[in-house]
Amino acid sequence: MRGAAVTGWGAALPETVVTNADLEARLDTTDEWIVERTGIRERRVGGTTSSLATEAAAQALDRAALRPSDIDLLLLATTTPDQAVPATSPEVAHRLGLTCGAMDLNAACSGFVYALVAAAGMVGLGVDRVLVIGAETLSRIVDQDDRTTAVIFADAAGAVVLEAVPGETKLLGYDLGADGSLRSLLYCDHGGFIVMEGQELFRRAVRATVESARAALERAKVTAEEITLFVPHQANLRIIDAAGQRLGLPRERTALVLDRTGNTSAASVPVALADAVDDGRLSPGDLVLLSGFGAGMTWASAVLRWGR
Ligand code: UT7
Repeated sequence: MRGAAVTGWGAALPETVVTNADLEARLDTTDEWIVERTGIRERRVGGTTSSLATEAAAQALDRAALRPSDIDLLLLATTTPDQAVPATSPEVAHRLGLTCGAMDLNAACSGFVYALVAAAGMVGLGVDRVLVIGAETLSRIVDQDDRTTAVIFADAAGAVVLEAVPGETKLLGYDLGADGSLRSLLYCDHGGFIVMEGQELFRRAVRATVESARAALERAKVTAEEITLFVPHQANLRIIDAAGQRLGLPRERTALVLDRTGNTSAASVPVALADAVDDGRLSPGDLVLLSGFGAGMTWASAVLRWGR
């Protein structure tokens, strides 16, 4: 029997910090409003999607004690590729010295969890090691004069290595979903800026996170009480709290980086995961619930057993 396990993790944040005070100085907003309504205190901007992705992936390889040449497939979840064509993943592979298969996947803020599930499927098909990356430079598609989006979205990358391991798979259950009739809640036309219906998205986001997480837990045959770490998409602290409350997953068992990163879409789940692991919050055998939602509308959840 052969399963898939996360054996490496990494994160990359651009150097430039934009604090709420910086935004207060140039937009009709306040630190108080941003903290109260979103939980964000600062965010990072800069770099390119490929450069951030490469940095996070290199870290994940290091932690997995692998060389780039050990990787058989690269999946990059992003909604902000460097160019419209080609995909950004071949560039990331090239920077890492890889010529294995590489493809982009766009499921917005759910993208990393989608890619992780797809990677586990590829391991089932016989692929030994997959680099799964979520990377974004959302600051490029945000109108910096629009206070409703400029205070929220930012740039980052996170990555994991998913390896074939003997025995049962560590991806115990998952749920993927999409509802294209809700596409107008959050979109960006070619050459345009992000447009968002915040309030309606908020309402849908809580429901999607709760229902998707429950479906993944049920398929994994585990309960919320058994989850050591909940890693939700880092969009808004009030969404995370509302979903956590309904699921019975309090903040003490939740990975949070939102205050330091803002909403980094496909990067947010792997960045929060890497941060929690680096803080020593996971031990082999622990159960992790990953959950994302976003433009599309899409949603995705996965239950992982930590360790090889
Ligand atoms: O990755 C998925 C992406 N997106 C999301 O998950 C977003 C989900 N939605 C949200 O997080 C929240 O809806 C927001 C943080 C975007 C907005 O919070 P809200 O509590 O829903 O605020 P609101 O849109 O109801 O606006 C309340 C007030 C409005 O003023 P009035 O009409 O009450 O006078 C807004 O104009 O706050 C105003 N406002 C702001 N004020 C200061 C909107 N943005 C700002 C701002 N600073 N940046």
